[in-house]
Amino acid sequence: MTINYYEFVQNVLSDAPKRHLITGVAGFIGSHLLEKLLKLNQQVVGLDNFLTGFRHNLAEVRSLVSEKQWGNFTFVEGDIRDLETCRRACKGVDYVMHEAALGSVPRSIEDPVATNEHNLTGFLNVILAAKDEGVKRFVYATSSSVYGDHPDLPKVEDKIGCPLSPYAVTKQADEAYAGVFSRVYGLECIGLRYFNVFGPRQDPNGPYAAVIPKWFAGLSKGEDVFINGDGETSRDFCFVENVVQANLLSVCTNDSGAVNQTYNIAFGDRTTLNQLFELIRNTVAQYHPVAQDVKPVYRDFRAGDIHHSLADTGKAKRLLNYDPQYSVKDGMEKAGVWYANARP
Ligand SMILES: NC(=O)c1ccc[n+]([C@@H]2O[C@H](COP(=O)([O-])OP(=O)(O)OC[C@H]3O[C@@H](n4cnc5c(N)ncnc54)[C@H](O)[C@@H]3O)[C@@H](O)[C@H]2O)c1
Repeated sequence: MTINYYEFVQNVLSDAPKRHLITGVAGFIGSHLLEKLLKLNQQVVGLDNFLTGFRHNLAEVRSLVSEKQWGNFTFVEGDIRDLETCRRACKGVDYVMHEAALGSVPRSIEDPVATNEHNLTGFLNVILAAKDEGVKRFVYATSSSVYGDHPDLPKVEDKIGCPLSPYAVTKQADEAYAGVFSRVYGLECIGLRYFNVFGPRQDPNGPYAAVIPKWFAGLSKGEDVFINGDGETSRDFCFVENVVQANLLSVCTNDSGAVNQTYNIAFGDRTTLNQLFELIRNTVAQYHPVAQDVKPVYRDFRAGDIHHSLADTGKAKRLLNYDPQYSVKDGMEKAGVWYANARP
């Protein structure tokens, strides 16, 4: 039987388990990394302060793995703004997957100081602790927001523009720090520029919720959903399992040319908000017929938003063997099942 490269990488990890630190482990993406690593019988340390993450995300992962696998998980409740906490979490760790940050462009515009503390000071603490504790590789979440006002589409890694929000400033600065840590201290770093990730466990609540979970929640109750702009704004939406794949490939690559790089992590396809609305409405209507009658309400564009976003994923494909397995439609079906069964 032939297996694909991602399956091969998972077999490599299963055969020789490693110790991983996931920061932001109780969040959306962090909890998916936890689930995958535990299912591969890895040792995992998780760090989170529950700022935007949840105990129920950890409980859900626990319900999806065996008790033995759950026994391989050590949770550190703490804050990446505290260097000693970061040092404690990095002890004896082979690989770091750094996800902890304060997300949302609008939140960063309202509170740039908090965004800076979590996303930049926190980042510096984690990467410094990783270097001092001798971890083998530091893989971290950066963002498509680094492309800022650069007009080119699709986005290629070496052409970034001026940032359009404090959030984007922190992600650009994180990338600059990772470059310094690799050049000056010899720490192996890989930055993954995620493009609009979605999937189960993404929080639909609060003023800074992302569009997909917010629409799932609103449509399932037959409530109005809002589109900022004329709906022709487009994004490269990426199902969370593709992001998990990119992290595992980054941890495992033996290609020296693939480390100390940043990569676009997306599906590589563009969906307008009008198309997204149709897709989510049709998905939700299978579970909640009330969704069928909802029409979108159009309102002004938001400050700091990029109008179009599409990734060139060629570099990740070439150097990491990234092969995203879930299209937006595939991912939407999986997310739909989860939101249909989620707590209200
Ligand atoms: N979701 C996306 O579409 C997307 C897109 C681009 C980049 N990213 C990046 O991916 C990463 C994960 O995002 P997510 O969507 O899972 O967000 P999330 O809010 O669900 O998860 C972030 C986690 O980090 C934790 N955290 C925040 N500040 C912390 C601190 N000071 N100390 C300890 N823990 C802290 C939160 O409690 C939360 O559990 C972030 O770095 C984010 O900027 C996400």
